[in-house]
Amino acid sequence: MMSQSQLLAAKIVEQVLIGKNLDKSFQLVLTKYSHNEEENIPQIKDMTYGAIRDLGKSNFYINKLVKNKIENLCIESLLHIVLFQINHERSNDFTLVNQAVDAAKKIDHKKSSFINAVLRNFIRNKDNLQKQLKENESALYSYPKWWIEKVKKQYPKNWQDILNIGNQRPPLTLRINLKKLEIKQYSNNLDEEGIEHSLVGDECLIIKKPLDVNKIPGFLDGKVSVQDLGAQLAAHIIDLKNEQKVLDACSAPGGKACHMLELSSIKLTAIESDEQRTIKIIDNIKRQGFKAQIINKKIDNKNEWWDKQYFDRILLDVPCSASGIVRRHVDIKWLRRINDFQNFADNQLTLLRATWPMLKEGGKLLYVTCSIFEEENKDVIEEFKKKINNVSEIDIKFPSNITHIKNQVIPSDNHDGLFYALLKKS
Ligand SMILES: C[S@@+](CC[C@H](N)C(=O)[O-])C[C@H]1O[C@@H](n2cnc3c(N)ncnc32)[C@H](O)[C@@H]1O
Repeated sequence: MMSQSQLLAAKIVEQVLIGKNLDKSFQLVLTKYSHNEEENIPQIKDMTYGAIRDLGKSNFYINKLVKNKIENLCIESLLHIVLFQINHERSNDFTLVNQAVDAAKKIDHKKSSFINAVLRNFIRNKDNLQKQLKENESALYSYPKWWIEKVKKQYPKNWQDILNIGNQRPPLTLRINLKKLEIKQYSNNLDEEGIEHSLVGDECLIIKKPLDVNKIPGFLDGKVSVQDLGAQLAAHIIDLKNEQKVLDACSAPGGKACHMLELSSIKLTAIESDEQRTIKIIDNIKRQGFKAQIINKKIDNKNEWWDKQYFDRILLDVPCSASGIVRRHVDIKWLRRINDFQNFADNQLTLLRATWPMLKEGGKLLYVTCSIFEEENKDVIEEFKKKINNVSEIDIKFPSNITHIKNQVIPSDNHDGLFYALLKKS
């Protein structure tokens, strides 16, 4: 029933409004309140992710339509959900309003007439209100003002594209293990199964319509993996040779680790500080039939795990703001605060300084973030190079299908935003 889906979606959005992570809230609310509603999950996902993506717009509309602050956060969340549904024509406007009135009754019976009045008022004034969006950038692009200013400052030429791409539905991108499958053959198999897709690289294709991972042909037996095209660059840039000793310093869920193992016969040590996420590396490596040493420790506590054998290559894919993958994690733009960036940068520098001594002379370290902001990228590398004298930076040649400014991969239709720096030890 649609009103039940709207209700569950509102409970999820309410969690994000109080500062919780969307993916976790989604699981939590569905486990707690949903009974036999498997078939409604895609619809609830569409509503919650869409409403969070559009929160800047719906906040603007609510401010125009409602004088006083809405005390009940679940009622406010229901408005965000239904405004998203109306604006994206998910059903007939008045059907959506009637369903929302039923959902509101289950939250607070007294508030159902309020929901009815606000939504009907919105529908009456929709064209005019949508025009007024242009007055307010935060509403028009649906990002906090400080985020828009930051993107404008760093990307004066393409800030609008970057913001707009962050509001798109992300592509479902696959990486094909070329040792197990030919990409043309796989593409033919997908055609036979009626799965629309496009080839975007030698080992990469994009599936047109969302599909459950377990239904992707070849996924369960490890012939294909889900990984963004921009993230697929790491295992190539790091320049592996067979038999090399490689450290994946921040490894979970192990996407880049598996790709490196696919491309070369290396001896891989994968370190991850989070216990639950370490299980994901184990599952991923097992699914593809690889071997690696997987350790659940902090990379910087090296006395607890390092045997003093130096590494030929180190992949350091650090925790970051994730501003380059905001279309996948739509809550990030609302949950981050402008002063989070200094903390991320401090931690990134700490991790870089902690891993550098484990690299062999002549060895290479690849620093990676999925951020578009220079504080976590170029600035960290510059700061690191100032204090270390046995480091030089190697130029990276990006393939022609990657949009980038120097080492910064810019979010585009076909790939996420990432930063790469390849450092050599002399
Ligand atoms: C950006 S993710 C890595 C993604 C991974 N490389 C991939 O491609 O699938 C960063 C990971 O680093 C882990 N992490 C954070 N601090 C760490 C530390 N001090 N030592 C080891 N792992 C850490 C986080 O838990 C997170 O799983």
